[in-house]
Amino acid sequence: MTTVQARVEAALERALPPREQPPQRLHEAMRYAVLGAGKRVRPLLAFAAGEAAGAAPEDLDTVACAVELIHAYSLVHDDLPCMDDDTLRRGRPTVHVEFDEATALLAGDALQSAAFELVASGTAAGDRGARLEMVRLLAQAAGSRGMAGGQAIDLTAVGRTLTLPELEFMHILKTGALIRASVTLGARCGALAAAELDRLDHYAKLIGLAFQVVDDVLDADASTVTLGKTAGKDAAQGKPTYVSVLGVERARELAEELRREAHEALDGFAERARRLRELADFIVLRRF
Ligand code: IPE
Ligand code: IPE
Ligand code: MG
Ligand code: MG
Ligand code: MG
Repeated sequence: MTTVQARVEAALERALPPREQPPQRLHEAMRYAVLGAGKRVRPLLAFAAGEAAGAAPEDLDTVACAVELIHAYSLVHDDLPCMDDDTLRRGRPTVHVEFDEATALLAGDALQSAAFELVASGTAAGDRGARLEMVRLLAQAAGSRGMAGGQAIDLTAVGRTLTLPELEFMHILKTGALIRASVTLGARCGALAAAELDRLDHYAKLIGLAFQVVDDVLDADASTVTLGKTAGKDAAQGKPTYVSVLGVERARELAEELRREAHEALDGFAERARRLRELADFIVLRRF
């Protein structure tokens, strides 16, 4: 993990505009939002899926950075006063607190554009047609039928009780979609048979949901210090979560079930999917 994290950190550093380049405040905010912290789960998934597909590391740099840039943008906007109104992220003041709201809004916008620029101008997947398909997959994962759509449902759900299927739908969109794209884009940098891609996609759906279930659990039973973001916010803000609907114990059991199923989805990949198995474990067993 530390090897890939360091590699991705360096690639992100190269991908982001230098702070001296005008508009400096915007570029500083973009760099602040992305560099120096974060678990980098999505890049790790892209690299692990790429490893299973025999992809070139340089191509994986591109897609790993792209998904992390989209993720960082989603966090900057998620923390804004008009959304979750959070002041702490990755152990530091949120972007709108450190800079200002308008800068946070624009930094998010620009990070999203930077992600697409990166995929479009890279060499990943060999030919332009395949790269165009990657751009489409990323757009779908980030848009109204993916992350942004899930965030919209999250906001309208405040103070309401959701049924389990409604909650699952929200989580699959707001968090699952980008995690799924991280695996798929990593895999597409290499060569896999269609049936194998389907197996990886199934794995990705399971761990994408598990990721947000665990995020809900940690919000309820971890500390602000270990999380690097304010704990207990979901209950305080009346957000429907797996904890509010199922309770901590059953939410943890569900995450565990998803982990088991994710391992099953990788049957047949043998040693090639070792990293993906380890990441499924990390996503469910993590404490931060
Ligand atoms: C937090 O994501 C937001 C969710 C989608 C649940 P992460 O837990 O991956 O946050 P970082 O990137 O490690 O800070
Ligand atoms: C955020 O979900 C999902 C995103 C798309 C950013 P949360 O609102 O639960 O994420 P945290 O807990 O603030 O990181
Ligand atoms: Mg939120
Ligand atoms: Mg939030
Ligand atoms: Mg949360």
